[in-house]
Amino acid sequence: MNVDVVIVGFGTVGQGVAEVIVRKAPALHSAFGEKLRLVGVFDSSSYELNGKGLDPREMIARKEKLGKVGPRLDGKTVPELLADFHYDVMVEVTPTNIQDGEPGLSHMMAALTSGKDVVTSNKGPLALKFKELAAAAKKNGARMRFEASVGGATPIINVSRDLLVGEKIHSIRAIVNGTCNFILNRMKEEGLPFEQALREAQELGYAEKDPSYDIDGIDSAAKAAILANAIFGRECTFHDVRRVGIRGVSLEAVSLAAAEKKVIRLVAEVSPTRLEVSPRLVPIGHPLAIGGTLNIFQLMTDLAGEMTVAGKGAGRLETASAVLSDLAALMKENCVAKGREL
Ligand SMILES: NC(=O)c1ccc[n+]([C@@H]2O[C@H](COP(=O)([O-])OP(=O)(O)OC[C@H]3O[C@@H](n4cnc5c(N)ncnc54)[C@H](OP(=O)(O)O)[C@@H]3O)[C@@H](O)[C@H]2O)c1
Repeated sequence: MNVDVVIVGFGTVGQGVAEVIVRKAPALHSAFGEKLRLVGVFDSSSYELNGKGLDPREMIARKEKLGKVGPRLDGKTVPELLADFHYDVMVEVTPTNIQDGEPGLSHMMAALTSGKDVVTSNKGPLALKFKELAAAAKKNGARMRFEASVGGATPIINVSRDLLVGEKIHSIRAIVNGTCNFILNRMKEEGLPFEQALREAQELGYAEKDPSYDIDGIDSAAKAAILANAIFGRECTFHDVRRVGIRGVSLEAVSLAAAEKKVIRLVAEVSPTRLEVSPRLVPIGHPLAIGGTLNIFQLMTDLAGEMTVAGKGAGRLETASAVLSDLAALMKENCVAKGREL
């Protein structure tokens, strides 16, 4: 049995997923009795489909060499080209668009509506239309998984949903934007004013030329909305998040915090009643006082008390590992549904 995968979006994450399919398909085959097989790849202007399977390494090499993956789309859309093509799972990894969720929203909706499973790292559709996507999945007997959309490689959603199934999670506090953390840390450690720390982050490639997505808390708010929906069963969107970014954090405020043995961090707080992203004072030594660009999640639970999950929030293979964990979860469910021994 094969699990036929189409990757939509063949940039950093898409190519990382192709690579991990090569590296991990044999192990998943021996664990679950099914073989992950790449049958389709799309980028913004070209595509390749082959029901007999594609060589993931060749697709990566082709993209690197030619800047495209196959024939031109010529005005056709991903849903149109996939309408009569057999596949099992769409890995949707096109750019996040927090305005209207496109093109990922249309891709995911088309796949789910035709009963295909979706695995994604794309925050936009989930932060804007989670309820609609979940409803489409339910109505059509499809599954949607999105571990990589929050925390990159840090397995917060699967840990919360699967491992803590008997626990009541009261709330989650998290640092989910490495760029903001880097800037706030540089301000404290080097005494740099905000603008200078931001310039440094841009020079090192942590922040975009237009940094507002990170520093105005948009990225963190999108992730908070996804967590609220996925873990607390809320029906909210990115627009429901109370959001304050770090533009207004002065060097003076950072120094005053340091004098009190505290740091300032951009913290996302999610619970059944709270949904907020804002700069907070955190005591030095507290898990949320984390430095560098790591992501961290602190869960407050009824039995286990406080626990933290930390890890990388981005990266080619790191993010692909989270996508792979979702693919493996789908394969495990298939295995159980078919009564095969694990
Ligand atoms: N990079 C990370 O570490 C990371 C971590 C967590 C989550 N994410 C999320 O994962 C997603 C992908 O990130 P990335 O870093 O891989 O982005 P990326 O490097 O910019 O790649 C995006 C890919 O999507 C393709 N694309 C754009 N519009 C398309 C369309 N209409 N149809 C088909 N393909 C289209 C692009 O095509 P071209 O190649 O032709 O431009 C490109 O191949 C984003 O939503 C991002 O927020 C990324």
